[in-house]
Amino acid sequence: MSARIIDGKGFAAGLRQRVAGYAADLKARTGTVPGLAVILVGDDPASAVYVRNKEKALESAGLHSFDHRLPHDTAQADLLRLIDSCNRDPAVHGILVQLPLPKHIDTPTVLAAIAPEKDADGFHVTNAGLLATGRPGVVPCTPLGCLMLLRDVLGRNLAGKRALVIGRSTIVGRPMAQLLLGADCTVTMAHSRTRDLDIECSHADILIAAVGRPEMVRGDWIKRGATVIDVGMNRIPPDCGSAGGGRLVGDVHYAEAAEVAGAITPVPGGVGPMTIACLLVNTLAAACRQAGQPVPEEALP
Ligand code: GUN
Repeated sequence: MSARIIDGKGFAAGLRQRVAGYAADLKARTGTVPGLAVILVGDDPASAVYVRNKEKALESAGLHSFDHRLPHDTAQADLLRLIDSCNRDPAVHGILVQLPLPKHIDTPTVLAAIAPEKDADGFHVTNAGLLATGRPGVVPCTPLGCLMLLRDVLGRNLAGKRALVIGRSTIVGRPMAQLLLGADCTVTMAHSRTRDLDIECSHADILIAAVGRPEMVRGDWIKRGATVIDVGMNRIPPDCGSAGGGRLVGDVHYAEAAEVAGAITPVPGGVGPMTIACLLVNTLAAACRQAGQPVPEEALP
C-alpha cells in the first residue's frame, strides 16, 4: 500500500487565499484591517526566519504586521510594557511573542500579560482553559492546522476514531489532544515515559507525532490505513552517517510509514505551512470579534 500524501503546503496556500478574501470583506464592511504585533526578543537565527516568514504571509494576505525587534538583554519589565501598549492599541488585534525567550525572562509571566482575546498563539492560560473545558477561545496554530488536515482527509466527523498524540508540549501535544477529544475521538497521550509505544501506535487510526525525535516512529508500529500527521521538523546534520546529509526529517520514518499508512504528511510541506496559515486565521478571527463581526466558519475548530 502506498499512502496518500497530505499536501499541507497546497492546503495552506488555499487557506491563506481565503483569509485574504475574508480580510478584504471585513475591511470593506467595517474599515478594519486585521493587525498582528510580532515581538522577537534576541537574535536566534531560527526564530528570525520564522518571524520573517510570518510577517511575509501576513502582508501577502493583506493583514497588517507590526514588527517589534528587541535586543537579547531586554528587561522583562520593558517587554511587559510593550505588550501592555499592544493590548491597548485598537489597530492591534493579535499579539505574538516568538518563543523561546531569553533565559532571564519568565515565559509564563509574559504570555499571561497578553490580553486573552489578542493571544494569536492561543498560549494564554485562559485560552488553554477554554480549550480544555470545551468552550470557544483561541486555539494554538499548529494543532488547529493538524485538525484541518485531518478533516480534509477523513471528513468532518472524526467521532470514535482512536487517536494517539505523541508529545505533551503546551504548544502542540496537549492542545492537540484537547481538540481531538472535542471532536469525539478516543484519545491517548504518549510521552517520553510511555511504555510500549509501538503497541500504542498499532491501535491508532489517527497518529500525531510531535516529539522532536528524528524518524522515531517506525513503519511497523503503524496500523494499516492510519492517518499520520508528522509535526516533527528535525535537521539531520550532514555528517550523521546513514541518516543522510543536512536533511529535514519528521518524527516519523516517512519511507517506511508511507508503505503502511492510509495518508501521511510529508516533512517539509506537511504541517509546517499550516502553522503560519492558522496564525493568519487566528488574527482574522480576533479582528472579526473585536470589530463585532461574525467569525468565518472555517476559522473555528
Ligand atoms: N516558537 C516555536 N513555535 C512557535 C509558535 O507557534 N509560536 C510562537 N510564538 N513561538 C514559537
